[in-house]
Amino acid sequence: MITLVWAQSQNEVIGKEGKLPWNIKQEMQHFIDYTRGKTVLMGRLTWESLKLKPLPNRKNIVITRKGLDFEHKNLEINNNLEIVLKDFKNSSEELIIIGGKQIFDIAINFADKLVVSYIYENYDGDIFATKIPDNSFKVLDIKKFDEFEVITYERK
Ligand SMILES: NC(=O)c1ccc[n+]([C@@H]2O[C@H](COP(=O)([O-])OP(=O)(O)OC[C@H]3O[C@@H](n4cnc5c(N)ncnc54)[C@H](OP(=O)(O)O)[C@@H]3O)[C@@H](O)[C@H]2O)c1
Repeated sequence: MITLVWAQSQNEVIGKEGKLPWNIKQEMQHFIDYTRGKTVLMGRLTWESLKLKPLPNRKNIVITRKGLDFEHKNLEINNNLEIVLKDFKNSSEELIIIGGKQIFDIAINFADKLVVSYIYENYDGDIFATKIPDNSFKVLDIKKFDEFEVITYERK
C-alpha cells in the first residue's frame, strides 16, 4: 500500500531553495505522528534537506540515480523508484512517500492514499505541489488545526 504525505501552502508551494518554506510545529508533529514506525521514501534532494540524517525510528529509502556516500542502519539507497513502488503496491505494508516533487509526480500514479496538509497562508517558493488527478481520489477525512487542515483522500 502506498501513501503520499505532503504539505502545501495556499498558493500550492511545497519547497523553497531546497527546504520547507515554513516552520509550523503542529504540522511537523502531524508528519512525525503519521510516519512513525513506517517505511518512508524520498528523493535525494529531500534527503539532503534532512541534513543527511535518516528520520529516526523509521526505515528510510532514498531514491537516487547517482548514489549516496552515506551508510546507516535505517537507510536504504535505491535507484529504481518504479520497482520499489510496484513491490509496495502489492503489499499490505504501508510505504509513505514524503517527497519531493520529482518523486510525488511519479508516485501519485501508484498511490492508494494521499494525506495532504493545506496551510492557510501563502508562501514564496520554487517547488509546487503535484496536481491530484481529477476523479481519481475521494475525500475520506478532514482534520482542522490552527494554521492548516489535513485532508485524507483514498483512491476511488
Ligand atoms: N512540503 C512538503 O511536504 C515537502 C515534502 C518533501 C520535499 N519538499 C521540498 O521539495 C524540494 C525537493 O523536491 P525536488 O522535486 O526538487 O527533489 P526530490 O524529488 O526530493 O529529489 C530529486 C532527486 O531524486 C532522484 N530521482 C528523482 N526521480 C528519480 C527516478 N525516477 N529514479 C531515480 N532517482 C530519481 C534524483 O536524485 P540524483 O540527482 O541523486 O540522481 C533527483 O535529483 C525541497 O524544497 C523540499 O524541501 C517539500
